[in-house]
Amino acid sequence: MTTTLILQRMSWNSMQYDNNFSYVSAHGRGVVDLLDARPGERILDLGCGTGDLAARIAASGVTVHGIDGDPDMIRTAVDKYGDAPGTPTFAVADGHAFTVDEPFDAVFSNAALHWMRRPDEVLARVHAALAPGGRFVAEFGASGNVAALIEGLRVAGGELAPEVPIELPWYFPSTAEYATRLENAGFEVATTACFARPTALAPGDTAADWWRMFGPTVLAAFPADVHEPLLARVDDVVRDRMVGADGIWVADYVRLRFAAVRVRPARDVP
Ligand code: BEZ
Repeated sequence: MTTTLILQRMSWNSMQYDNNFSYVSAHGRGVVDLLDARPGERILDLGCGTGDLAARIAASGVTVHGIDGDPDMIRTAVDKYGDAPGTPTFAVADGHAFTVDEPFDAVFSNAALHWMRRPDEVLARVHAALAPGGRFVAEFGASGNVAALIEGLRVAGGELAPEVPIELPWYFPSTAEYATRLENAGFEVATTACFARPTALAPGDTAADWWRMFGPTVLAAFPADVHEPLLARVDDVVRDRMVGADGIWVADYVRLRFAAVRVRPARDVP
């Protein structure tokens, strides 16, 4: 199995990701069910992170190959799941540019497509990686995702460093926009669902911790001495919207979940 090795994205702290942000894969059950992998199938996990869902899918007798743009995530996945028969294989690859040497029965993705900001390129690669009739089943952030977290940063940034432009590294489309892209890329859309999925952060974590984990490139635009006051102010701005009665902070995730089938050549390949 070959993949084009292009390093992308920031390198996350994969240990912290597994310890405090493990809800990312814990919430993947619904999209794994939608994938409905059958024994003997070959499945590509696009943006596999530290490999938990790839391993869960492989446990049902499926051959799984996980790719992720972050070498640290892939190192952790390999460390956790090894190379025993029946465990997934893993490689570093950019979702916009990967190639495979044998087509897959399905491409699966959880909480990763919003990091890939050129969706038509990704869809072209997914299409090329699938056998005719192959499935593309995924869940990711939809329009409106983490709106409170983003607004908190915009308000705090406007107050503390108004000269710094806030550029977000994510792509959160509407269902209609993404369905059109899927169709243009040669897929028939089988199901879509867009839903709010309020997501509890780890006990003790706040909006500031979420930004430290997922927004280091956004924070890097601010002078270093502004980071801590900025994050403290973000917490103040969004506390009432994000903290539940039990004191746990809840992120306002909105998901787009879909299943599509590769049915025809792409209409326009980027
Ligand atoms: C998400 O899973 O929706 C997400 C995670 C990190 C950054 C942005 C969105």
